[in-house]
Amino acid sequence: MKRIGVLTSGGDAPGMNAALRAVVRACAYNNIEVEGIFQGYQGMIEGDFKRLNERSVARILGRGGTILKSSRSKEFMTKEGRKKAYDNLKKHGVDGLITIGGNGTFTGAHVLYQEYGVPVMGIPGSIDNDIYGTDHCIGFDTATNTVVDAVDRIRDTATSHNRLFFVEVMGRNSGFIALKAGIATGAIAIILPEDEMTVEELIETLRATEESGKTSSIVLVAEGSKSGGAYEIARQVNERYDEYETRVSVLGHLQRGGAPSCYDRVLASRMGVAAVDGLLQGRKDVMVGIVNDRESYTSLEEAITRKNLPNRDELRIARILAI
Ligand code: F6P
Repeated sequence: MKRIGVLTSGGDAPGMNAALRAVVRACAYNNIEVEGIFQGYQGMIEGDFKRLNERSVARILGRGGTILKSSRSKEFMTKEGRKKAYDNLKKHGVDGLITIGGNGTFTGAHVLYQEYGVPVMGIPGSIDNDIYGTDHCIGFDTATNTVVDAVDRIRDTATSHNRLFFVEVMGRNSGFIALKAGIATGAIAIILPEDEMTVEELIETLRATEESGKTSSIVLVAEGSKSGGAYEIARQVNERYDEYETRVSVLGHLQRGGAPSCYDRVLASRMGVAAVDGLLQGRKDVMVGIVNDRESYTSLEEAITRKNLPNRDELRIARILAI
C-alpha cells in the first residue's frame, strides 16, 4: 500500500480532526502518502483531493468539527455517482481508503468495497454512539459533557422558577446521550427510543416526587423518541397534569461543536493509528473499534446491520435515583 485516501462524512463529531491527524501521522511514520478527500463522498465524486503530510495536520488535535469538511452525499447513493468516485480514487492512485463517520459512512464504504474491491477501513465518529463494534464512538464523550453543562445551567433557572423543563438532546435513533447526561444531571425521567417511558408513567413519577416536596424537575428526551420529541411530550403531559409551569429547550447542534475532550482525543488517536495498522496488515471492509480497552476490528457488514444499545442497568439506576 503506497497511498491512502481519508475522508470524514455524515454528521461531524468532536475528535474527527484528532483521528485525521493520527491517520496522517501514522501514514507518514510508515512512509505512506495520504490524499485528503474533502466534503466526504461528494468530494470524492467531484475530485476534491489534496495531498496531506504530517505538517498539514498540525494544531488540529484540539479543534472541533472536521477540517476535511463533511457532507451527506445523495449522488454517492447512485451507481453513476460511485463510478465517478472510484474513477477519481484511481486517478489519484489511492489504494486504500479510511472513512471517518457513522452508519451511513460505513454503508458507503462497504458498497465501494463490494463494487470495486477498494480496501476500506472505517473509524467510528458519531455523537450518537450507536455504532456496533466499539465501546465508544469519537465525539460522544464531548457531546455528553456539553449536554451536562447545558442542563446544569437549565437546572439553575428551573429551580428559581419552580418549573418543569423538557430538554431535547440529539440521538436520531439512539438514547445514549440522553441516558448518560440524564444520570449525570439527575433528570427525573429519561425518554429514550430504545426503552420508551409512557406519558402515564412520567406523570406518575412527577406526581409522586412533587408530593414528596420536589419543586422543579428536568426531563431529558432523546430526539428520536417515539413519543414525538420534547415539545410533543410536554404538550401531552400538560394536557393531563398542570402542577408545574413547563418549558421546553431543544439543545440542537451546539452538541456537535466544541473542542474534543481528553477522552475523545485519545480515543481518536488510538483509532487513527489502528486504522492504518489494520490496512497495512491487509484488513479490509472492516471498522476499527476499542473494546474493553483493546483495539479490535469488526466487519463493516456487522457494524452497519447491528447497533449498540444503551446499558439497561444504567436505565435502572436512573429510575431508582429519580425518587
Ligand atoms: O448523526 C448525528 C446527528 O447529530 C444526530 O444525532 C442528528 O439527528 C443528526 O446528526 C442531525 O443531522 P444534520 O446535522 O444533518 O441535521
